[in-house]
Amino acid sequence: MNQSSPETLSDTDTGHARAAELLRAAGLVAFPTETVYGLGADASDDRAVARIYEAKGRPSFNPLIVHFADLETLKLHVVWTPEAELLAQTYWPGPLTLVLKRQADSPISPLVSAGLDTIAVRLPAHRSARAVLRAFGGGVAAPSANQSGQISPTLAQHVMDSLGDRVDAVLDGGACTVGVESTIVGLIDKPVLLRPGGITEDQLAQTLGHHIAVRHKAEAISAPGQLMSHYAPDALVRLNATDWEPGELRLGFGEVDCDLNLSKTEDLVEAAAHLFDYLHRLDARGGKVIAISPIPHEGLGIAINDRLSRAAAPREG
Ligand code: TXA
Ligand code: MG
Repeated sequence: MNQSSPETLSDTDTGHARAAELLRAAGLVAFPTETVYGLGADASDDRAVARIYEAKGRPSFNPLIVHFADLETLKLHVVWTPEAELLAQTYWPGPLTLVLKRQADSPISPLVSAGLDTIAVRLPAHRSARAVLRAFGGGVAAPSANQSGQISPTLAQHVMDSLGDRVDAVLDGGACTVGVESTIVGLIDKPVLLRPGGITEDQLAQTLGHHIAVRHKAEAISAPGQLMSHYAPDALVRLNATDWEPGELRLGFGEVDCDLNLSKTEDLVEAAAHLFDYLHRLDARGGKVIAISPIPHEGLGIAINDRLSRAAAPREG
């Protein structure tokens, strides 16, 4: 179905209906969520899901998150638990993904979970995402809408730049407000924080009434999907820069002299919302190195530092 350039869909009932129609025809539709833009396909259609991996150039062992419009439909596909109920009631719709055991009779394509007997599910809060999911009716598999390993998209233009004619349509719903991907919590055995994100570790601990285990990077690399070099701009990335070297592109935080400032007032929410867009913008200037001010390692800063450390990680090839 790939045409030379993707359809641009408006953020209207007509646009949402067209998105659902394309999804039903095994198409790839990029749409905004509150975290980042997703590259959506019918999660129950093997061929559609395979097209996601192909379009992103994604290693097939890196599984996908399935998005739903409502909890009733979502629950048909996973084995629900009391902890899932507690987290769902507190944070859904919102930037949280839960990894649960797959229901034996779920029609979700096994390609979605790359052979695991679990499925990552999420109920996004973004109005346009919900409208598309409602119009479609079933689960939509959607990784971030960028080529594998590159910076995640927070604007429709980022999707066009990264995936262009590899998608059938892009729904333009403006800028994503959270700006980093959803927090992922595994609920297979005891709750484990698998990826830091829009909901912080402290929030989760408060809701669960106890400390939550955190999967550390060394283990995470060997686990599916937690590839180390990721979110990578073309330029090299230098972290925790307290001064600038000549010629560097300077991404600041706080009261510093720089090219772009994630948040002059050291507001981590504002910094997360700007993060990927500013990396895209500095990278587009074509310099060799992007240097980045230290970001406090607390609250949303943990998710920001996770993405930055992957952007700075040694690259393959
Ligand atoms: O905010 C988000 O989560 C965005 C928007 C579009 O919803 N999506 C997103 O998807 O970030 P993606 O594909 O870039 O990241 C999905 C992550 C991967 O790290 C993958 O390994 C993990 O979810 N994942 C998916 N299914 C899993 C499973 N069954 N078990 C463990 N991890 C899983
Ligand atoms: Mg991604």
